[in-house]
Amino acid sequence: MDSKSILFRSENIDFYADCPAPEEYYKLFLTTDWNNEYCFTKVEIEQSIRNIWYTISAYAGKELIGSGSILSDGIHHALIVNMIVHPDYQNQGIGTTILRLLVKKCRECKIRDIQLFAVENKCRFYKKFGFVARPDNAPGMQFK
Ligand SMILES: CC(C)(COP(=O)(O)OP(=O)(O)OC[C@H]1O[C@@H](n2cnc3c(N)ncnc32)[C@H](O)[C@@H]1OP(=O)(O)O)[C@@H](O)C(=O)NCCC(=O)NCCS
Repeated sequence: MDSKSILFRSENIDFYADCPAPEEYYKLFLTTDWNNEYCFTKVEIEQSIRNIWYTISAYAGKELIGSGSILSDGIHHALIVNMIVHPDYQNQGIGTTILRLLVKKCRECKIRDIQLFAVENKCRFYKKFGFVARPDNAPGMQFK
């Protein structure tokens, strides 16, 4: 990692607006239980991270310990996805910094509609940030 591209430094954690190395990202992804459902291969995970619009990566030294991404058309819609902080580093404010940098990017691009899906026990985390649940008469929907 080149120090010139560091977006933000907090104590011993560096935040970059870079796509992480696929191998590193795959390891971080597997710290969640998401692959129990999705069953992605390493190649598929690599493809997903390469194709994404914008990613913030957090490093402790050379180790990727956090990441979050935006899927977007660059002006109308942005969907914040794949917020992950390695379990050893959670509850230290790293996820909050990643989310702040992602929202900042959306604001800089004047994106009008910023959305995300929250698992129930993470609603508080996002609400503190200003996200609100969608109204009952306009729920998010998912193809099954
Ligand atoms: C969601 C996730 C990314 C949050 O990352 P994180 O680094 O733990 O987030 P933060 O540390 O900024 O905030 C988490 C909590 O720690 C608290 N916190 C922040 N800094 C803190 C500090 N220095 N000391 C103690 N607690 C702290 C925050 O207030 C927050 O509390 P809350 O959840 O009750 O609102 C992380 O839990 C994760 O990777 N989970 C697994 C994957 C997942 O579920 N992703 C989200 C899907 S919606």
